[in-house]
Amino acid sequence: MIHSLPHLSLGNFPTPVHRLSNLGRAIGIDSLWIKRDDLGGLLGGGNKVRKLEYLFADAQKSRPGDSSYPTLFTIGPTGSNHVRATAVYGKAAGFRVECLLFRQPPTEYSELNYETICEYAAEIQEVTRVSTLFARYAYQKTKHAFGIGPERYFITAGGSSPLGSVGYVTAVTELKTQIDEGLLPEPRFIFVPVGTCGTMAGLMAGVRLAGLRSQVVGIRVSDWIIANAWAVSRMERRILRLLSATDGGLMNPRPVELWHHDFGKGYAIPTEAGTRAVEMMMEHEGILLENTYTGKTLAGLVHYVQTHGCEDEPVLFWHTYGGGATFLQHTPPQSLHSPPPANYFQTASETTSPHHSDRRRSSCHTN
Ligand SMILES: Cc1ncc(COP(=O)(O)O)c(C=O)c1O
Repeated sequence: MIHSLPHLSLGNFPTPVHRLSNLGRAIGIDSLWIKRDDLGGLLGGGNKVRKLEYLFADAQKSRPGDSSYPTLFTIGPTGSNHVRATAVYGKAAGFRVECLLFRQPPTEYSELNYETICEYAAEIQEVTRVSTLFARYAYQKTKHAFGIGPERYFITAGGSSPLGSVGYVTAVTELKTQIDEGLLPEPRFIFVPVGTCGTMAGLMAGVRLAGLRSQVVGIRVSDWIIANAWAVSRMERRILRLLSATDGGLMNPRPVELWHHDFGKGYAIPTEAGTRAVEMMMEHEGILLENTYTGKTLAGLVHYVQTHGCEDEPVLFWHTYGGGATFLQHTPPQSLHSPPPANYFQTASETTSPHHSDRRRSSCHTN
C-alpha cells in the first residue's frame, strides 16, 4: 500500500546511522547510536523532508487534468522548522507557498528561520495568539471546502497529517535495512522529540509494520494539549488505517511512552539540561543540535535511561533538526539535487546582506 502512495523525492535517503562512542562514554551509555536525519536534505529541513515528500506529491496530483500546482498553505510559529522547510522546498519544487504564523518568543535560531520564511514564502500573515492561528486555519479550510476563495492545498502544523507521517513509517523500513546490513544493532529504545506527534506516531507504526521490538520513546517538547499520549495513539491508528494495515491486531492500542520531565517552562524555552546536552553533542561528536527539540530530547534520553537503569541496552537518538536555516541565507535553491553553491555552508553572520531586513519587511504582513 505504501508504494502506491504518490511520492516526490526531495531529500537524500537513506540517512546515515553511526555510533556515538565519545558521547556514549561521557554519559555512560555504551551502545549509543544516532540516525542522521539532519543530513536528509540539501536544503536543510531535518524531519520535515520525509513528510513533505508525501505531502508535495499529493498536492501535485490534487488537481487532475491541470498541470499547474496549487498554492500551498501552512501554519506554525514564526521560528517554525516546518514552515521554513515548506517555504524553501516548496519554492524549489515549483509551488507558491503562503503561510500563517504566530509570534513566538524570539531566539537567534527562531529569527533565522523567520528570515528564511520571509525570503521564500510568497505571502505571510501573522497573528499574535495560537488560538487565533488555529481558528483562522479552520476558517480558511472551511471556506475552501465550500469552494470559496483561491485554490489551495492545506498542510497542517508540523506536516503532521497521517499522510505526512507516512514518511516516518518508511524511515523505519530504511532503519530495518540498516539493522539487517549490520550497520547497527536493533535498538532497545528509539528517542525522538514530540512536537505535533507525527514523527513519533509514524515511527511507532513503522516499528510495528517492520516487526522490530524497539520501544519508541517520545520526549515531549511542546504543550501537553498538543503533544500527549492520546494524540500520538490516535495519529498512529490513522496512519495504519491510511495504509490499510488494520489486520493482525495492528489496531490494538499499545501504550505510548512519553517522557514529560525535560519540557521545562514551555515550548522553545531552553532548559539547563537541554542546553548542556547541545554543548555535549558538539563537544564530543561535533554534531549540531538546538534548544527547542533535539537538545531537550538528548537530555530526556539521558534521564530516561538513568531512571530505567538501561545503560547497557542499545539506544538510538533520532536526530530531527536540519540546521538548514544557516545554509540558506540569501542563496536561492536552484534545484533540489544539484550540488550546493559554495556559500551554502557559511554561517549566517558570514553572509548577512545589508538589504535583508528591508526584504523581510516588504514580504511580511502582520495583523
Ligand atoms: C527539529 C524538530 N524535531 C522534532 C520535531 C517534532 O516533530 P513532530 O512535530 O512530528 O512531533 C519538530 C517539529 O515540530 C522539529 O522541528
